Amino acid sequence: MANSWWKESVVYQIYPKSFQDSNNDGIGDIKGIISRLDYIKKLGTDVIWICPVYKSPMDDGGYDISDYFQIDEMFGTNEDLDELLEKAKQLDIKVLMDLVVNHTSDEHVWFQEALHNPASKYRDYYIFKEGIDGNPPNNWRSYFGGSAWEPVPNEENMFYLHAFTKKQPDLNWENEEVREEIYAMINYWLDKGLGGFRIDAILNIKKRLEYGIFESDGEDGLAFIGHWILNQPGIEVWLKEMRERTFKPHNSMTVAEADVPNERLDEYIGEDGYYSMVFDFSYTDIDVPETGEWFKDSQWTWTDMRTNIFTNQLVTQDKGWGALYLENHDQPRSINKYIPEEWINDYSKKMLATLFMLLRGTPFIYQGQELGMTNIEMASLEDFDDVATHSQYKRALEYGLAPEQALKAVNKRSRDNSRTPMQWNTQKNAGFSTSDNVWLKVNPNYPELNAEAQLTNQQSVFNYYRQLIELRKNSVYNDVLIYGQFLPVKDKNEHILLYERQLEDKIVLVILNVTATEQEYYVDEQYQQVLINNYEDILLDQSRKLRLRPFESIVLANYGGQL
Ligand code: GLC
Ligand code: CA
Repeated sequence: MANSWWKESVVYQIYPKSFQDSNNDGIGDIKGIISRLDYIKKLGTDVIWICPVYKSPMDDGGYDISDYFQIDEMFGTNEDLDELLEKAKQLDIKVLMDLVVNHTSDEHVWFQEALHNPASKYRDYYIFKEGIDGNPPNNWRSYFGGSAWEPVPNEENMFYLHAFTKKQPDLNWENEEVREEIYAMINYWLDKGLGGFRIDAILNIKKRLEYGIFESDGEDGLAFIGHWILNQPGIEVWLKEMRERTFKPHNSMTVAEADVPNERLDEYIGEDGYYSMVFDFSYTDIDVPETGEWFKDSQWTWTDMRTNIFTNQLVTQDKGWGALYLENHDQPRSINKYIPEEWINDYSKKMLATLFMLLRGTPFIYQGQELGMTNIEMASLEDFDDVATHSQYKRALEYGLAPEQALKAVNKRSRDNSRTPMQWNTQKNAGFSTSDNVWLKVNPNYPELNAEAQLTNQQSVFNYYRQLIELRKNSVYNDVLIYGQFLPVKDKNEHILLYERQLEDKIVLVILNVTATEQEYYVDEQYQQVLINNYEDILLDQSRKLRLRPFESIVLANYGGQL
Protein backbone atom coordinates (compact mmCIF):
# COMPACT_ATOMS: atom_id res chain seq x y z
CA MET A 1 0.00 0.00 0.00
CA ALA A 2 1.31 3.40 -1.01
CA ASN A 3 2.20 6.09 1.51
CA SER A 4 0.05 9.22 1.38
CA TRP A 5 0.02 12.51 3.26
CA TRP A 6 -3.42 11.82 4.65
CA LYS A 7 -2.29 8.55 6.20
CA GLU A 8 0.35 10.43 8.15
CA SER A 9 -1.96 13.22 9.29
CA VAL A 10 -3.97 13.73 12.44
CA VAL A 11 -7.26 15.56 11.88
CA TYR A 12 -8.93 18.06 14.18
CA GLN A 13 -12.68 18.40 13.69
CA ILE A 14 -14.19 21.83 14.25
CA TYR A 15 -17.85 22.58 14.89
CA PRO A 16 -17.65 26.24 13.84
CA LYS A 17 -20.75 27.37 15.66
CA SER A 18 -19.16 26.41 18.99
CA PHE A 19 -15.46 26.91 18.47
CA GLN A 20 -14.66 30.60 18.85
CA ASP A 21 -16.83 33.67 18.44
CA SER A 22 -14.82 36.60 17.04
CA ASN A 23 -17.53 39.31 16.96
CA ASN A 24 -19.32 38.32 20.16
CA ASP A 25 -22.76 37.71 18.71
CA GLY A 26 -22.90 34.40 20.57
CA ILE A 27 -22.08 32.24 17.53
CA GLY A 28 -18.69 30.87 16.58
CA ASP A 29 -17.32 31.94 13.20
CA ILE A 30 -14.54 31.58 10.65
CA LYS A 31 -12.49 34.47 11.99
CA GLY A 32 -12.70 32.69 15.35
CA ILE A 33 -11.19 29.58 13.80
CA ILE A 34 -8.40 31.67 12.25
CA SER A 35 -7.59 33.12 15.67
CA ARG A 36 -7.15 29.61 17.08
CA LEU A 37 -5.01 28.03 14.39
CA ASP A 38 -1.91 28.15 16.54
CA TYR A 39 -3.70 26.16 19.24
CA ILE A 40 -4.44 23.48 16.64
CA LYS A 41 -0.85 23.60 15.52
CA LYS A 42 0.39 23.30 19.10
CA LEU A 43 -1.64 20.14 19.56
CA GLY A 44 0.16 18.74 16.53
CA THR A 45 -2.83 18.20 14.30
CA ASP A 46 -2.25 19.13 10.67
CA VAL A 47 -5.65 18.85 9.00
CA ILE A 48 -8.88 20.52 10.07
CA TRP A 49 -12.34 19.38 9.06
CA ILE A 50 -14.85 22.14 9.48
CA CYS A 51 -18.53 21.24 9.72
CA PRO A 52 -20.79 23.09 7.23
CA VAL A 53 -20.44 26.87 7.05
CA TYR A 54 -22.48 27.32 3.87
CA LYS A 55 -25.61 29.44 3.77
CA SER A 56 -28.26 27.65 5.78
CA PRO A 57 -31.42 28.24 7.81
CA MET A 58 -29.73 25.97 10.40
CA ASP A 59 -32.56 23.56 10.90
CA ASP A 60 -29.98 20.77 11.24
CA GLY A 61 -26.82 22.59 12.26
CA GLY A 62 -25.95 23.64 8.71
CA TYR A 63 -26.50 20.21 7.17
CA ASP A 64 -29.38 21.93 5.41
CA ILE A 65 -27.69 24.06 2.77
CA SER A 66 -29.56 26.77 0.90
CA ASP A 67 -26.60 28.02 -1.15
CA TYR A 68 -23.54 25.87 -1.80
CA PHE A 69 -21.46 28.79 -3.01
CA GLN A 70 -22.06 31.20 -0.17
CA ILE A 71 -20.68 31.24 3.37
CA ASP A 72 -23.49 31.93 5.83
CA GLU A 73 -23.41 35.41 7.35
CA MET A 74 -23.38 34.00 10.85
CA PHE A 75 -19.99 32.42 10.09
CA GLY A 76 -18.59 35.38 8.13
CA THR A 77 -17.92 35.90 4.44
CA ASN A 78 -16.43 34.01 1.50
CA GLU A 79 -13.37 36.22 1.95
CA ASP A 80 -13.03 34.96 5.53
CA LEU A 81 -12.93 31.43 4.22
CA ASP A 82 -10.24 32.37 1.69
CA GLU A 83 -8.29 33.91 4.53
CA LEU A 84 -8.67 30.74 6.59
CA LEU A 85 -7.30 28.67 3.71
CA GLU A 86 -4.40 31.09 3.31
CA LYS A 87 -3.50 31.21 7.02
CA ALA A 88 -3.86 27.46 7.38
CA LYS A 89 -1.56 26.96 4.43
CA GLN A 90 1.10 29.13 6.04
CA LEU A 91 0.97 26.81 9.04
CA ASP A 92 0.99 23.67 6.89
CA ILE A 93 -2.53 22.80 7.92
CA LYS A 94 -4.87 21.36 5.31
CA VAL A 95 -8.57 22.15 5.36
CA LEU A 96 -11.43 19.75 4.72
CA MET A 97 -14.95 21.05 4.26
CA ASP A 98 -18.18 19.15 4.71
CA LEU A 99 -19.94 17.97 1.58
CA VAL A 100 -23.70 17.59 1.97
CA VAL A 101 -25.22 16.41 -1.27
CA ASN A 102 -27.84 13.85 -0.34
CA HIS A 103 -30.21 16.73 0.31
CA THR A 104 -30.42 20.51 0.29
CA SER A 105 -32.37 22.88 2.48
CA ASP A 106 -35.99 23.44 1.48
CA GLU A 107 -34.92 27.09 1.20
CA HIS A 108 -32.50 26.33 -1.64
CA VAL A 109 -33.65 28.05 -4.87
CA TRP A 110 -33.88 24.70 -6.62
CA PHE A 111 -36.45 23.49 -4.14
CA GLN A 112 -38.30 26.79 -4.07
CA GLU A 113 -38.59 26.62 -7.87
CA ALA A 114 -39.69 23.00 -7.66
CA LEU A 115 -42.47 24.00 -5.26
CA HIS A 116 -43.66 27.19 -6.86
CA ASN A 117 -43.14 26.25 -10.44
CA PRO A 118 -43.97 22.55 -10.78
CA ALA A 119 -43.45 22.70 -14.54
CA SER A 120 -39.84 23.85 -14.16
CA LYS A 121 -36.90 21.49 -14.59
CA TYR A 122 -36.22 21.81 -10.85
CA ARG A 123 -39.23 19.67 -10.01
CA ASP A 124 -37.17 16.66 -11.08
CA TYR A 125 -34.20 17.76 -8.93
CA TYR A 126 -36.11 16.29 -5.97
CA ILE A 127 -38.40 13.34 -5.32
CA PHE A 128 -42.09 14.18 -5.57
CA LYS A 129 -44.82 11.57 -5.52
CA GLU A 130 -48.61 11.42 -5.29
CA GLY A 131 -49.91 9.99 -2.03
CA ILE A 132 -52.44 7.29 -1.39
CA ASP A 133 -55.76 9.07 -0.80
CA GLY A 134 -54.09 12.00 0.86
CA ASN A 135 -51.71 9.81 2.88
CA PRO A 136 -47.98 9.51 2.15
CA PRO A 137 -47.00 7.17 -0.72
CA ASN A 138 -45.41 4.77 1.78
CA ASN A 139 -44.74 4.42 5.52
CA TRP A 140 -41.02 5.10 5.64
CA ARG A 141 -39.75 6.67 8.85
CA SER A 142 -37.29 9.52 8.40
CA TYR A 143 -34.02 9.16 10.32
CA PHE A 144 -35.13 11.79 12.77
CA GLY A 145 -38.56 10.22 13.32
CA GLY A 146 -41.96 10.76 11.71
CA SER A 147 -42.92 10.15 8.08
CA ALA A 148 -40.20 10.66 5.44
CA TRP A 149 -42.83 12.34 3.23
CA GLU A 150 -44.07 15.87 3.62
CA PRO A 151 -47.25 17.13 1.93
CA VAL A 152 -46.59 19.77 -0.71
CA PRO A 153 -48.37 22.98 0.26
CA ASN A 154 -51.24 23.97 -2.04
CA GLU A 155 -51.18 20.75 -4.01
CA GLU A 156 -53.56 17.95 -3.36
CA ASN A 157 -52.29 14.49 -2.55
CA MET A 158 -48.69 15.39 -3.40
CA PHE A 159 -45.60 14.72 -1.24
CA TYR A 160 -41.82 15.12 -1.31
CA LEU A 161 -39.21 12.81 0.21
CA HIS A 162 -36.89 13.76 3.07
CA ALA A 163 -34.71 11.15 4.77
CA PHE A 164 -33.76 13.65 7.49
CA THR A 165 -35.89 16.64 8.57
CA LYS A 166 -38.70 18.00 6.41
CA LYS A 167 -36.47 21.01 5.80
CA GLN A 168 -33.95 18.69 4.09
CA PRO A 169 -35.57 17.42 0.87
CA ASP A 170 -33.57 14.64 -0.81
CA LEU A 171 -32.00 15.37 -4.16
CA ASN A 172 -32.82 13.17 -7.13
CA TRP A 173 -29.45 11.77 -8.16
CA GLU A 174 -31.03 9.93 -11.11
CA ASN A 175 -31.21 13.33 -12.80
CA GLU A 176 -27.96 13.90 -14.69
CA GLU A 177 -28.24 17.66 -14.44
CA VAL A 178 -28.34 17.42 -10.66
CA ARG A 179 -25.14 15.40 -10.69
CA GLU A 180 -23.47 17.90 -13.03
CA GLU A 181 -24.39 20.79 -10.74
CA ILE A 182 -22.95 18.92 -7.76
CA TYR A 183 -19.68 18.02 -9.48
CA ALA A 184 -19.20 21.61 -10.62
CA MET A 185 -19.79 22.80 -7.07
CA ILE A 186 -17.29 20.30 -5.63
CA ASN A 187 -14.67 21.40 -8.15
CA TYR A 188 -15.32 25.05 -7.38
CA TRP A 189 -14.28 24.45 -3.77
CA LEU A 190 -11.45 22.04 -4.52
CA ASP A 191 -9.97 24.56 -6.96
CA LYS A 192 -9.59 26.95 -4.04
CA GLY A 193 -7.02 24.59 -2.58
CA LEU A 194 -8.99 22.51 -0.11
CA GLY A 195 -7.34 19.33 1.13
CA GLY A 196 -10.59 17.52 0.46
CA PHE A 197 -13.97 16.76 1.96
CA ARG A 198 -15.77 14.89 4.66
CA ILE A 199 -18.77 13.50 2.83
CA ASP A 200 -22.10 13.51 4.58
CA ALA A 201 -24.74 10.77 4.50
CA ILE A 202 -23.57 9.66 1.06
CA LEU A 203 -24.84 6.08 1.22
CA ASN A 204 -28.40 7.42 0.94
CA ILE A 205 -28.22 8.92 -2.55
CA LYS A 206 -29.61 5.91 -4.42
CA LYS A 207 -33.24 5.19 -3.62
CA ARG A 208 -35.13 1.97 -4.20
CA LEU A 209 -38.50 3.67 -4.48
CA GLU A 210 -41.31 1.37 -3.49
CA TYR A 211 -44.77 2.44 -2.51
CA GLY A 212 -47.45 1.10 -0.22
CA ILE A 213 -47.54 0.08 3.40
CA PHE A 214 -44.66 -2.03 4.68
CA GLU A 215 -44.41 -3.99 7.90
CA SER A 216 -43.74 -1.55 10.71
CA ASP A 217 -40.81 -1.90 13.10
CA GLY A 218 -41.95 0.61 15.70
CA GLU A 219 -44.82 1.96 17.75
CA ASP A 220 -45.44 4.62 15.11
CA GLY A 221 -46.58 2.26 12.33
CA LEU A 222 -43.56 3.30 10.23
CA ALA A 223 -40.60 1.36 8.86
CA PHE A 224 -36.86 2.16 8.92
CA ILE A 225 -36.08 4.04 5.71
CA GLY A 226 -32.52 2.71 5.53
CA HIS A 227 -33.72 -0.63 4.13
CA TRP A 228 -34.65 1.17 0.91
CA ILE A 229 -32.12 3.95 0.63
CA LEU A 230 -28.82 2.80 2.18
CA ASN A 231 -26.16 1.49 -0.18
CA GLN A 232 -28.62 0.39 -2.86
CA PRO A 233 -27.49 -1.37 -6.04
CA GLY A 234 -26.49 1.16 -8.65
CA ILE A 235 -25.01 3.64 -6.17
CA GLU A 236 -21.53 2.58 -7.30
CA VAL A 237 -22.01 4.19 -10.70
CA TRP A 238 -22.45 7.66 -9.19
CA LEU A 239 -19.82 7.23 -6.51
CA LYS A 240 -17.32 6.31 -9.21
CA GLU A 241 -18.46 9.14 -11.43
CA MET A 242 -18.12 11.64 -8.59
CA ARG A 243 -14.61 10.46 -7.76
CA GLU A 244 -13.45 10.55 -11.38
CA ARG A 245 -14.87 13.99 -12.02
CA THR A 246 -13.82 15.69 -8.80
CA PHE A 247 -11.65 14.11 -6.09
CA LYS A 248 -9.29 12.10 -8.23
CA PRO A 249 -8.03 14.91 -10.46
CA HIS A 250 -7.47 17.00 -7.32
CA ASN A 251 -5.74 14.22 -5.41
CA SER A 252 -8.07 15.01 -2.50
CA MET A 253 -8.39 13.42 0.88
CA THR A 254 -11.94 12.12 1.21
CA VAL A 255 -13.56 10.63 4.25
CA ALA A 256 -17.09 9.42 3.83
CA GLU A 257 -19.69 9.06 6.50
CA ALA A 258 -20.49 5.58 5.28
CA ASP A 259 -21.05 2.57 7.44
CA VAL A 260 -20.17 0.12 4.69
CA PRO A 261 -20.81 -3.60 5.15
CA ASN A 262 -17.52 -5.53 5.31
CA GLU A 263 -18.14 -7.37 2.06
CA ARG A 264 -18.39 -4.10 0.13
CA LEU A 265 -15.53 -2.26 1.83
CA ASP A 266 -13.16 -3.03 -1.02
CA GLU A 267 -15.19 -0.89 -3.46
CA TYR A 268 -15.07 2.03 -1.07
CA ILE A 269 -11.52 2.06 0.23
CA GLY A 270 -9.70 -0.48 -1.92
CA GLU A 271 -6.91 0.32 -4.38
CA ASP A 272 -9.32 2.07 -6.71
CA GLY A 273 -11.92 2.93 -4.07
CA TYR A 274 -14.35 5.84 -4.06
CA TYR A 275 -12.78 7.39 -0.94
CA SER A 276 -9.53 7.62 1.01
CA MET A 277 -11.32 6.24 4.07
CA VAL A 278 -14.73 5.83 5.66
CA PHE A 279 -16.08 6.26 9.17
CA ASP A 280 -17.17 3.03 10.81
CA PHE A 281 -20.08 3.29 13.27
CA SER A 282 -19.74 -0.07 14.98
CA TYR A 283 -17.98 1.11 18.11
CA THR A 284 -19.20 4.70 18.35
CA ASP A 285 -22.87 3.71 18.06
CA ILE A 286 -22.38 0.73 20.36
CA ASP A 287 -24.68 2.29 22.96
CA VAL A 288 -27.67 2.69 20.64
CA PRO A 289 -29.86 -0.22 19.59
CA GLU A 290 -30.37 -0.86 15.87
CA THR A 291 -33.65 1.03 15.84
CA GLY A 292 -31.69 4.18 16.65
CA GLU A 293 -33.81 4.91 19.72
CA TRP A 294 -31.67 6.71 22.29
CA PHE A 295 -34.01 5.87 25.15
CA LYS A 296 -33.46 2.12 24.80
CA ASP A 297 -30.26 0.72 26.25
CA SER A 298 -28.11 -1.45 23.99
CA GLN A 299 -26.49 -3.23 26.99
CA TRP A 300 -23.07 -3.13 25.38
CA THR A 301 -19.99 -4.59 27.05
CA TRP A 302 -16.24 -4.13 26.56
CA THR A 303 -16.18 -7.55 24.95
CA ASP A 304 -18.46 -6.12 22.24
CA MET A 305 -16.25 -3.05 22.00
CA ARG A 306 -13.17 -5.17 21.48
CA THR A 307 -14.91 -7.32 18.88
CA ASN A 308 -16.17 -4.30 16.98
CA ILE A 309 -12.93 -2.33 17.03
CA PHE A 310 -10.74 -5.32 16.22
CA THR A 311 -13.00 -6.61 13.46
CA ASN A 312 -13.09 -3.18 11.88
CA GLN A 313 -9.30 -2.87 12.13
CA LEU A 314 -8.68 -6.27 10.57
CA VAL A 315 -11.14 -5.89 7.73
CA THR A 316 -10.02 -2.35 7.00
CA GLN A 317 -6.31 -3.11 6.89
CA ASP A 318 -7.04 -5.94 4.54
CA LYS A 319 -8.71 -3.58 2.07
CA GLY A 320 -7.21 -0.15 2.57
CA TRP A 321 -7.12 2.65 5.09
CA GLY A 322 -9.37 3.58 8.03
CA ALA A 323 -10.62 6.69 9.84
CA LEU A 324 -10.34 6.51 13.63
CA TYR A 325 -12.62 8.46 15.92
CA LEU A 326 -14.42 8.32 19.25
CA GLU A 327 -16.28 11.60 18.96
CA ASN A 328 -17.87 13.92 16.46
CA HIS A 329 -20.71 16.44 16.32
CA ASP A 330 -23.28 13.62 16.21
CA GLN A 331 -22.01 11.85 19.31
CA PRO A 332 -22.11 12.61 23.01
CA ARG A 333 -18.71 12.93 24.71
CA SER A 334 -16.79 9.66 24.63
CA ILE A 335 -15.79 9.75 28.27
CA ASN A 336 -19.46 9.69 29.32
CA LYS A 337 -20.29 6.95 26.88
CA TYR A 338 -17.52 4.49 27.65
CA ILE A 339 -16.62 5.14 31.29
CA PRO A 340 -18.88 4.81 34.36
CA GLU A 341 -19.59 8.21 35.87
CA GLU A 342 -17.67 7.67 39.11
CA TRP A 343 -14.55 6.78 37.10
CA ILE A 344 -14.48 9.79 34.84
CA ASN A 345 -11.05 11.29 35.50
CA ASP A 346 -7.82 12.11 33.70
CA TYR A 347 -6.64 8.48 33.88
CA SER A 348 -9.67 7.12 32.08
CA LYS A 349 -9.61 10.01 29.60
CA LYS A 350 -6.00 9.23 28.74
CA MET A 351 -6.78 5.53 28.48
CA LEU A 352 -9.43 6.24 25.84
CA ALA A 353 -7.00 8.48 23.99
CA THR A 354 -4.41 5.70 23.96
CA LEU A 355 -6.93 3.14 22.81
CA PHE A 356 -8.01 4.94 19.68
CA MET A 357 -5.02 7.08 18.69
CA LEU A 358 -2.68 4.12 18.19
CA LEU A 359 -4.93 1.97 16.05
CA ARG A 360 -4.17 1.74 12.34
CA GLY A 361 -5.70 4.64 10.40
CA THR A 362 -5.98 8.41 10.45
CA PRO A 363 -7.13 9.72 13.85
CA PHE A 364 -9.86 12.37 14.02
CA ILE A 365 -9.98 14.38 17.26
CA TYR A 366 -13.18 16.31 17.83
CA GLN A 367 -12.84 19.79 19.38
CA GLY A 368 -12.66 19.58 23.16
CA GLN A 369 -11.93 15.86 23.17
CA GLU A 370 -8.26 16.75 23.61
CA LEU A 371 -9.26 18.46 26.87
CA GLY A 372 -11.47 15.60 28.01
CA MET A 373 -14.62 17.73 27.75
CA THR A 374 -17.71 16.03 29.16
CA ASN A 375 -21.46 15.88 28.52
CA ILE A 376 -23.63 18.71 29.77
CA GLU A 377 -26.75 18.21 31.83
CA MET A 378 -29.69 20.26 30.54
CA ALA A 379 -32.51 21.03 32.98
CA SER A 380 -35.26 21.03 30.39
CA LEU A 381 -35.96 20.13 26.79
CA GLU A 382 -36.00 23.82 25.79
CA ASP A 383 -32.27 24.03 26.52
CA PHE A 384 -31.56 21.71 23.59
CA ASP A 385 -31.07 23.11 20.10
CA ASP A 386 -30.50 19.86 18.19
CA VAL A 387 -33.42 18.79 16.01
CA ALA A 388 -32.69 15.09 16.55
CA THR A 389 -32.86 15.55 20.32
CA HIS A 390 -36.35 17.00 20.11
CA SER A 391 -37.60 14.18 17.90
CA GLN A 392 -36.00 11.54 20.13
CA TYR A 393 -37.70 13.09 23.15
CA LYS A 394 -41.04 12.89 21.36
CA ARG A 395 -40.42 9.27 20.40
CA ALA A 396 -39.55 8.43 24.00
CA LEU A 397 -42.84 9.90 25.24
CA GLU A 398 -44.79 8.06 22.53
CA TYR A 399 -43.09 4.88 23.64
CA GLY A 400 -44.47 5.48 27.12
CA LEU A 401 -41.58 7.00 29.05
CA ALA A 402 -42.32 9.61 31.71
CA PRO A 403 -41.05 13.11 30.86
CA GLU A 404 -38.19 12.84 33.43
CA GLN A 405 -37.06 9.56 31.93
CA ALA A 406 -37.23 10.96 28.40
CA LEU A 407 -35.17 13.96 29.49
CA LYS A 408 -32.63 11.66 31.10
CA ALA A 409 -32.35 9.66 27.88
CA VAL A 410 -31.74 12.71 25.69
CA ASN A 411 -29.31 14.15 28.21
CA LYS A 412 -27.28 11.00 27.82
CA ARG A 413 -27.28 10.85 24.04
CA SER A 414 -28.02 14.33 22.74
CA ARG A 415 -25.76 15.63 19.98
CA ASP A 416 -25.69 18.92 21.89
CA ASN A 417 -23.40 17.25 24.43
CA SER A 418 -20.55 17.72 22.01
CA ARG A 419 -21.83 20.99 20.55
CA THR A 420 -21.48 23.10 23.70
CA PRO A 421 -19.00 25.96 23.32
CA MET A 422 -15.32 25.17 23.40
CA GLN A 423 -13.81 25.78 26.85
CA TRP A 424 -10.83 28.07 26.34
CA ASN A 425 -10.30 29.68 29.74
CA THR A 426 -11.94 30.79 33.00
CA GLN A 427 -13.44 33.98 31.60
CA LYS A 428 -17.10 34.60 30.82
CA ASN A 429 -18.58 31.83 28.66
CA ALA A 430 -15.29 29.96 28.92
CA GLY A 431 -13.65 32.54 26.66
CA PHE A 432 -15.80 31.41 23.74
CA SER A 433 -17.73 34.70 23.49
CA THR A 434 -18.50 37.73 25.63
CA SER A 435 -22.13 37.74 24.47
CA ASP A 436 -24.99 37.41 26.96
CA ASN A 437 -26.72 35.29 24.37
CA VAL A 438 -24.57 32.34 23.51
CA TRP A 439 -26.51 30.00 21.16
CA LEU A 440 -26.06 26.94 23.39
CA LYS A 441 -25.28 26.64 27.10
CA VAL A 442 -21.65 26.53 28.14
CA ASN A 443 -20.79 23.50 30.25
CA PRO A 444 -20.58 24.81 33.85
CA ASN A 445 -17.41 22.78 34.50
CA TYR A 446 -15.28 25.21 32.46
CA PRO A 447 -13.59 26.91 35.45
CA GLU A 448 -11.81 23.59 36.11
CA LEU A 449 -11.79 22.20 32.61
CA ASN A 450 -10.34 24.54 30.00
CA ALA A 451 -7.55 24.81 27.46
CA GLU A 452 -5.59 27.54 29.20
CA ALA A 453 -5.15 25.49 32.37
CA GLN A 454 -4.21 22.39 30.43
CA LEU A 455 -1.65 24.01 28.15
CA THR A 456 0.61 24.83 31.09
CA ASN A 457 0.07 21.57 32.96
CA GLN A 458 2.43 18.87 31.72
CA GLN A 459 0.14 16.14 33.10
CA SER A 460 -2.99 17.41 31.37
CA VAL A 461 -5.15 15.47 28.96
CA PHE A 462 -4.21 18.02 26.29
CA ASN A 463 -0.52 17.34 26.75
CA TYR A 464 -1.15 13.62 26.70
CA TYR A 465 -2.85 13.94 23.31
CA ARG A 466 0.02 16.12 22.16
CA GLN A 467 2.50 13.41 23.17
CA LEU A 468 0.52 10.71 21.40
CA ILE A 469 0.53 12.80 18.22
CA GLU A 470 4.22 13.49 18.63
CA LEU A 471 4.93 9.76 18.96
CA ARG A 472 2.95 9.10 15.82
CA LYS A 473 4.53 11.86 13.79
CA ASN A 474 8.00 12.63 15.05
CA SER A 475 9.50 9.71 16.91
CA VAL A 476 11.47 6.57 16.13
CA TYR A 477 8.12 4.78 16.40
CA ASN A 478 6.32 6.77 13.75
CA ASP A 479 6.64 4.26 10.92
CA VAL A 480 5.23 1.45 13.06
CA LEU A 481 2.48 3.60 14.48
CA ILE A 482 1.40 4.84 11.06
CA TYR A 483 2.06 2.00 8.66
CA GLY A 484 2.49 -1.00 10.95
CA GLN A 485 0.06 -3.90 10.83
CA PHE A 486 -2.62 -4.11 13.48
CA LEU A 487 -2.52 -7.38 15.44
CA PRO A 488 -5.07 -8.29 18.10
CA VAL A 489 -3.50 -9.93 21.15
CA LYS A 490 -5.42 -12.56 23.06
CA ASP A 491 -5.16 -12.83 26.81
CA LYS A 492 -7.09 -15.02 29.21
CA ASN A 493 -8.07 -11.91 31.09
CA GLU A 494 -11.08 -10.39 29.30
CA HIS A 495 -10.69 -7.14 31.20
CA ILE A 496 -7.50 -6.12 29.48
CA LEU A 497 -7.62 -4.92 25.93
CA LEU A 498 -4.40 -5.61 24.06
CA TYR A 499 -3.14 -5.00 20.58
CA GLU A 500 0.11 -4.72 18.71
CA ARG A 501 1.34 -2.68 15.83
CA GLN A 502 4.07 -4.34 13.85
CA LEU A 503 6.40 -3.39 11.03
CA GLU A 504 9.07 -5.90 10.09
CA ASP A 505 10.69 -6.83 13.43
CA LYS A 506 9.55 -3.71 15.26
CA ILE A 507 6.60 -4.16 17.59
CA VAL A 508 4.59 -1.75 19.70
CA LEU A 509 2.28 -3.26 22.33
CA VAL A 510 -0.73 -1.36 23.70
CA ILE A 511 -2.02 -2.55 27.09
CA LEU A 512 -5.30 -1.16 28.39
CA ASN A 513 -7.20 -1.94 31.55
CA VAL A 514 -10.78 -1.16 30.54
CA THR A 515 -12.19 -1.78 34.02
CA ALA A 516 -12.31 -0.09 37.39
CA THR A 517 -10.65 -3.04 39.10
CA GLU A 518 -6.99 -3.97 39.31
CA GLN A 519 -5.72 -6.42 36.69
CA GLU A 520 -2.50 -8.37 36.15
CA TYR A 521 -0.52 -8.96 33.03
CA TYR A 522 2.84 -10.64 32.42
CA VAL A 523 4.96 -8.62 30.06
CA ASP A 524 7.05 -10.54 27.57
CA GLU A 525 10.84 -10.11 27.85
CA GLN A 526 11.09 -8.57 24.41
CA TYR A 527 9.31 -5.36 25.49
CA GLN A 528 11.93 -3.11 26.98
CA GLN A 529 10.81 0.40 26.17
CA VAL A 530 7.91 2.49 27.49
CA LEU A 531 6.45 4.88 24.92
CA ILE A 532 3.72 6.43 26.99
CA ASN A 533 1.61 5.59 30.06
CA ASN A 534 -1.22 7.32 31.88
CA TYR A 535 -0.28 6.93 35.57
CA GLU A 536 2.67 8.61 37.28
CA ASP A 537 4.55 5.30 37.54
CA ILE A 538 4.42 1.67 36.41
CA LEU A 539 3.95 -1.26 38.80
CA LEU A 540 6.16 -3.93 37.27
CA ASP A 541 7.84 -6.50 39.51
CA GLN A 542 10.90 -8.78 39.11
CA SER A 543 8.83 -11.51 37.51
CA ARG A 544 7.63 -8.99 34.92
CA LYS A 545 4.18 -9.02 36.39
CA LEU A 546 2.43 -5.77 35.66
CA ARG A 547 -0.24 -4.53 38.02
CA LEU A 548 -2.73 -2.42 36.18
CA ARG A 549 -4.76 0.07 38.18
CA PRO A 550 -8.26 1.19 37.13
CA PHE A 551 -8.21 2.30 33.48
CA GLU A 552 -4.44 2.21 33.35
CA SER A 553 -2.80 2.16 29.93
CA ILE A 554 0.78 1.44 28.99
CA VAL A 555 2.42 1.36 25.59
CA LEU A 556 5.61 -0.67 25.17
CA ALA A 557 8.00 -1.47 22.34
CA ASN A 558 10.60 -4.13 21.62
CA TYR A 559 13.14 -1.55 20.49
CA GLY A 560 14.35 1.91 21.35
CA GLY A 561 15.70 1.39 24.87
CA GLN A 562 15.56 -0.30 28.27
CA LEU A 563 12.53 -0.73 30.51
C1 GLC B 1 -24.88 13.47 8.96
C2 GLC B 1 -24.39 14.61 9.82
C3 GLC B 1 -25.46 14.97 10.79
C4 GLC B 1 -26.68 15.40 10.00
C5 GLC B 1 -27.08 14.35 8.95
C6 GLC B 1 -28.03 14.91 7.95
O1 GLC B 1 -25.16 12.34 9.69
O2 GLC B 1 -23.20 14.23 10.46
O3 GLC B 1 -25.06 15.98 11.67
O4 GLC B 1 -27.74 15.60 10.88
O5 GLC B 1 -25.99 13.87 8.23
O6 GLC B 1 -27.38 15.77 7.07
CA1 CA C 1 -19.79 35.33 15.74
